[in-house]
Amino acid sequence: AQSLAALGLRHGLQVGTAVDLAALNDANDPQYRRLAASEFSSVTAENAMKWESLEPTRGVYDWAAADQLVEFARRNKQSVRGHVLVWHNQLPTWLTSGVADGSISKQELRELLRKHITTVVSRYKGKIWQWDVVNEAVGDPWDTPSTLHYKGFWAQNLGPGYIADAFRWARAADPRALLFYNDYNIEAFGSGNPADDKPQFVYDMVKGLRAQGVPIDGIGSQGHLGTQYGNYDTLQVTAALKKFAALGVATAFTEVDVRSEMTEAVQAGNSAEINPRLQASAANFSVLMKACLAVRSCLSYTVWGFTDRHSWVPGWFTEPPQGMAAIYDENYQPKRAYHELKSDL
Ligand code: XIL
Repeated sequence: AQSLAALGLRHGLQVGTAVDLAALNDANDPQYRRLAASEFSSVTAENAMKWESLEPTRGVYDWAAADQLVEFARRNKQSVRGHVLVWHNQLPTWLTSGVADGSISKQELRELLRKHITTVVSRYKGKIWQWDVVNEAVGDPWDTPSTLHYKGFWAQNLGPGYIADAFRWARAADPRALLFYNDYNIEAFGSGNPADDKPQFVYDMVKGLRAQGVPIDGIGSQGHLGTQYGNYDTLQVTAALKKFAALGVATAFTEVDVRSEMTEAVQAGNSAEINPRLQASAANFSVLMKACLAVRSCLSYTVWGFTDRHSWVPGWFTEPPQGMAAIYDENYQPKRAYHELKSDL
């Protein structure tokens, strides 16, 4: 049978996965490595390229895991999505506490960010296809204030100008890498008012930055969906990709997964509750894939982990408990979503 990678290639589409380096290195779990190598044409480090992983101690970079991922990709002829240069989460403690206690000034913080971006992008120059330069810079309608705004550590400490800076520094360090802005809940436009419609806010932001000559090449739509939220339809999602593409940028689905509420009946194996979830999950994976295939600018479709055996969802979404978010189950059996993606391709 053909892999997702091979089928994607026929459309010029890379099908990728996030990779958990611990799982990849686990000699007792050879299936993980085998499927990561054979089913996908692109890989993303799930955590290994985040700042806290790369520079846990100030001034001391630990490249081992990130290098391994890049080497794995090279051996398997896969492209790499670099993730992530600037994000408010998974920052090293020395950095956040230094800012909190005033020992790192704003000016020094900006310089540290410039150095970090330059160091990381330079190390992998020529080896990264797409970089997520800035991740999740925009708030959500449920934040306070509810009017959409630039959120998080970087905006609070440096103001929104850090976004333009980050893209310029990344471009200078590797002029060939495609530079992405990446975010969640931007799969489909809503009201079109940037005060409450996150994709519209992102659209306006990217448009404004590009008008100033800021080198943004792509918009990454993460695609973290859930079966309990009601499905998007393909036309809505296609329209969103087309609207982004009209800015002159590439697009990609960068972190697709579809979580489900793990009720007691689901956990007990009750198929009357499990089957509709598998069905809805497949439908959601498929909507994003069909949209991506319908829009030329959509370069890649990456799942955020491919197996429920190694998924961030149960650890992250606990109230209520959620899971079943990947296209393979915990025993590496392909689920309905996997077959659905294949038939879409
Ligand atoms: C998640 C990882 O999957 C987890 O292992 C980690 O504990 C937290 O981060 N959006 C992103 C990703 O851009 O980097 C996040 O990854 C998931 C949400």
